[in-house]
Amino acid sequence: MTQSVSETVSQSVPPAPPTIFWFIPTHGDGSYLGSETRQRPPEFGYFREVATAVDRLGFKGVLLPTGQSCEDSWITAAGLATATERLKFLVALRPGVTTPVFAARQAAALDRLSDGRLLLNLVVGGNPRELAADGVFLNHDERYAQAREFVSIWRRLVSGEAVNHEGPYYRVENGRLDFPTVQEHLPLYFGGSSDAGHDVAAEQVDLYLSWGEPPAQLAGKIAAVREKAARLGRSIRFGIRLHFIVRETESEAWEAANRLISRVSDQQIADAQKRFSQEMDSVGQARMAALHGGRRDKLEISPNLWAGIGLVRTGAGTALVGDPQSVAARIREYQALGIDTIVGSGYPHLEEAYRVAELLFPVLGLDGRRTTVRRQIANEFSVGSHGPASAPTLHAAE
Ligand SMILES: Cc1cc2nc3c(=O)[nH]c(=O)nc-3n(C[C@H](O)[C@H](O)[C@H](O)COP(=O)(O)O)c2cc1C
Repeated sequence: MTQSVSETVSQSVPPAPPTIFWFIPTHGDGSYLGSETRQRPPEFGYFREVATAVDRLGFKGVLLPTGQSCEDSWITAAGLATATERLKFLVALRPGVTTPVFAARQAAALDRLSDGRLLLNLVVGGNPRELAADGVFLNHDERYAQAREFVSIWRRLVSGEAVNHEGPYYRVENGRLDFPTVQEHLPLYFGGSSDAGHDVAAEQVDLYLSWGEPPAQLAGKIAAVREKAARLGRSIRFGIRLHFIVRETESEAWEAANRLISRVSDQQIADAQKRFSQEMDSVGQARMAALHGGRRDKLEISPNLWAGIGLVRTGAGTALVGDPQSVAARIREYQALGIDTIVGSGYPHLEEAYRVAELLFPVLGLDGRRTTVRRQIANEFSVGSHGPASAPTLHAAE
């Protein structure tokens, strides 16, 4: 008899905790999708609040996206690196809009500025209309061919090699880096779900990231990429990118999920889905759209996995919704597939980062918080002999 993923997991010893990253909302943040009520503009001061909070809470890194409607990922990461201590920066890198030598120089500079905290996320972009505005006119598979050539030059440069190269997309004469990277190997992450993307991932990247598809669906994709990499004698790591809506109880979590889309109209959903399908050529995006089919009545697409965000957002369209125990159980199912890294987010990003750290981290065995005080401090939040008896009295005005 075949076992389901959850049965296999529940019988085995819990795996080591995953690595959890967060997201810098460089294209805006808010409390209600599809509404300007309580919207937060994408401003550096706010990004810094999110970054310093997640650094202190014990998240290991943050993803910074790239695109027409995002504040620039490189400039923002450089600013945030000076405001944080341990946090790593997973900075989106789009080959078509830069050159390998210039990108290598920028990467080395940011790796030095952050003292070795740079990670790169190779993304070719999935919207030809947006890419055309940036001067990129290649079709889907050509973009991956360009990315492959880009990475081969970029990798040699950041590894300290001098490069002469003449290829279909790039010509380099005596390319070199005078200022080296801090890390011996700059880790390259990747997001893309097409066959052409999988070929590039298998050959060149360290960690393959998928949007938050249901475990049963993701299993096939991971197997395909793993097999392609193995044929080249390589093994790569896997990660997932999704949102979190974690609350103390299941009902509170589902209420929060429903509230998040309570102001989205059916017309907004229909318009967004039409636009995404007309404008985008991304296989990953098509897979995400198929999960909900534009319908708001069937959004729990597998246990605790909710597709509501994808009704109006491209890319990361699913959230793990539930109490800490059930969300942790779902994470362990992903871990059983080989996922070791989760890039999370939640609306609004500051408050949801606290919720994930306070509610979910302890259940996952993570406690990365930096604290300068003793745990058993006597105050109004403590119990037992250290508790209220010796705690300072609160004044009514407080
Ligand atoms: C985790 C993750 C993050 C991504 N971040 C970005 C991004 O910041 N900017 C962007 O243009 N595309 C981003 N993408 C989409 C990629 O550009 C993707 O390669 C493109 O849509 C083509 O995808 P396909 O191989 O699935 O057809 C991301 C994808 C994933 C999985």
